[in-house]
Amino acid sequence: MPPTIGVFDSGFGGLTVLRALIQRLPRARFAFIGDTARLPYGSKSRRTIARYAAESAQFLVRKQGAEFLVIACNTASALALDAIQVAVPDIPVLGVIEPGASAARAATRTGDVLVIATDATVQSHAYSAACRALGMRALEKACPLLVPLVEEGWTSHPVTAEVIRIYLDELNAEAKAQGLNPDTLVLGCTHYPLLRPLMQSIVPPGIRVIDSAEAAAEAAALLFNGPAQLPQDLAGTPETTVHCFATDSVEKFERLGSRFLGRPVGNVELVDLGG
Ligand code: DGL
Repeated sequence: MPPTIGVFDSGFGGLTVLRALIQRLPRARFAFIGDTARLPYGSKSRRTIARYAAESAQFLVRKQGAEFLVIACNTASALALDAIQVAVPDIPVLGVIEPGASAARAATRTGDVLVIATDATVQSHAYSAACRALGMRALEKACPLLVPLVEEGWTSHPVTAEVIRIYLDELNAEAKAQGLNPDTLVLGCTHYPLLRPLMQSIVPPGIRVIDSAEAAAEAAALLFNGPAQLPQDLAGTPETTVHCFATDSVEKFERLGSRFLGRPVGNVELVDLGG
């Protein structure tokens, strides 16, 4: 049997990462948990996010037998990667920040990048640090209105387009004031890939849009297919096995989740993490 890859998010937005993972590892087994009862993480403190994320990671490893973890949530990756690693020792844990920064490195010519994310991710400056480590300058901006707009299904709505325009105008003005010459925009939140077509129609031509979900899935596929890392061949089952769990309404998860996953999420199981 192929190993189980545990995927964790604060809600169903992380299904964009799962979707990208399935495309690259179609024969793997996935256990996904969305901590929907405690969403959003993006407005919470490091301490709270770390506690919540550690509980989800322990659920995936101890109850679902996950042998690898992918932290799909940008906010948890930015603020709780260390806490997760402590909570599940000996389990390889991959977050989305470094893959996102690496993808930006591959895309940028000027070395200046823009990052949009939740408030907590921006406050942590995790993207700035990851970009700096790769020789880039990053300017980050919190876009807190985008998550609720995506959850409302307004992914091509004129209101959402206007909100994006305002955020990007502010970000570009700040970049100019700081003397930056950005050519790359990193979507540093699970929900933003659903806004990519709209975003692409708004950003000036010449700005490359980087999806941290795609970047993380790419890094995961490399890691999991690497002979040194993988205890068993993933080519063991004929189809992808996906088992989803949520900490709040499974009906809502099933309804909204398919938009993020790009296919029906199947039966979602309700779990109580006891937090
Ligand atoms: N999953 C979060 C992220 O990628 C967005 C939703 C939330 O704030 O919990 O940052």
